Amino acid sequence: MNDKFSKIGFILAVAGSAVGLGNAWKFPTLVGQNGGSAFVLLYLLLTLGVGFVIFLAELSIGKLSEKDPVNAYHSLAPKYKKAWSIVGFSMIGAILIVSFYSVIIGWIVNYTYLGLFPLPKSIDESGAIFGNLLSKDVLSQFICFTFVFIVIFYVVSKGVKSGIEKLNVWMMPSLFILLILMLGYSFSMDGFSKASEFLFSPDFSKLGVGAFLSALGLACFSLSIGVGSIITYSASLPDKTNFISSTINIIIINIIIGIMMGLIVFTFIFEFGADPTQQGPGLIFVSLLSLFANIDPVGFLPLGNILAVAFFIALFFAGITSAVSMIEPLTFYLINSYNFTRKKALVFIGFIVYILGSLCIFSSVEWSKDSLEFFGKSFFDILDFIASNLMMPLGGLFGAIFVGFVLKKETLQNLFNPYMKGRWFEIWYFFVRFISPLAVILIMIKQLSL
Ligand code: PHE
Repeated sequence: MNDKFSKIGFILAVAGSAVGLGNAWKFPTLVGQNGGSAFVLLYLLLTLGVGFVIFLAELSIGKLSEKDPVNAYHSLAPKYKKAWSIVGFSMIGAILIVSFYSVIIGWIVNYTYLGLFPLPKSIDESGAIFGNLLSKDVLSQFICFTFVFIVIFYVVSKGVKSGIEKLNVWMMPSLFILLILMLGYSFSMDGFSKASEFLFSPDFSKLGVGAFLSALGLACFSLSIGVGSIITYSASLPDKTNFISSTINIIIINIIIGIMMGLIVFTFIFEFGADPTQQGPGLIFVSLLSLFANIDPVGFLPLGNILAVAFFIALFFAGITSAVSMIEPLTFYLINSYNFTRKKALVFIGFIVYILGSLCIFSSVEWSKDSLEFFGKSFFDILDFIASNLMMPLGGLFGAIFVGFVLKKETLQNLFNPYMKGRWFEIWYFFVRFISPLAVILIMIKQLSL
């Protein structure tokens, strides 16, 4: 990771890290569980007021230090170097995430395969297929997870730049075009207006317990902040890249993809009279399969199947580019601080990820799930909760405090100067020092006091 990205390569890599299952899977799932529109609004506010602000803070840490997260804090802190470098270890959170994230990409692989065969017409049938995969089909889950695991570690072993740069050039636009097609199709369905209402007309009475923390976790998750990924990629940020406009673009793409997915997925949930709050992690899989099943063949072309396979492949790549950015920080650190070769670092990390991922699979399988349930939550959900709702916001919080109070203002001004100055810089600086940290702290306290 020491040599720099090309300008466009950097932007694509960071966009590739940000855009992934956070937007396509987590966003609709949480919106469903938390009653829709009010949650969407909360998420948007937190993305702008916390996510965007901290994203730029982490980018500054990476760019100014050009190091992995732990060494970045260590080298930039004028005193208490050891204590600050502990914040860099929030990158462990990314390892927890990649463990369950690979399992979900595994489901996507499974669905790509399903897309080759006749699709289930009703949402109940579609739900049964997902339920069966999770609770009974250990073998398929393992085969797919192992395949995903190998792909991810292979890409990281090649060094991030060449592999990832090339992948993103094709995959992002394809995903986008497919989403537009699917949205166009959803638009013609009756469920579309219900889906729009569900997403856009805020009803605050529906905000349940924990919605604030979930929205904060989602804002961090979908921007990859708090676990070292942005710091690590920004360590290779080429000089003279307008990182402000890139960041704004990435955030807009992120939001648009989430909203498009939400509209598509909920259109089909409502079309078939299913309950959006009851679907859980299977929501997008159950809904999308019914969408594809209902697209009529054109001549001898099974259009639904073709779209299904194309869409799941695009989603697969979106997931892989994110997963790669979760492994890179710790790899980079082990190489820098312990003189590990890239290969040795990856074997070490791979071992942990494979074990945690396997436990995630077993935590939904009928005969093993009870022994992998703690405090009423599955092992999978616990990993997600600890990493997304605790480690990410906390990592981001300390990043913001570090940038706002430990780094010198002039250093930041010099860094931002060509792209964001005057009043805009001052607003960001105020947010990074006060508003964003306060928002995170208040949400955490609110959650604790529940
Ligand atoms: N942002 C990614 C997504 O939306 C997930 C991610 C989390 C990536 C943490 C890197 C680090 O899917």
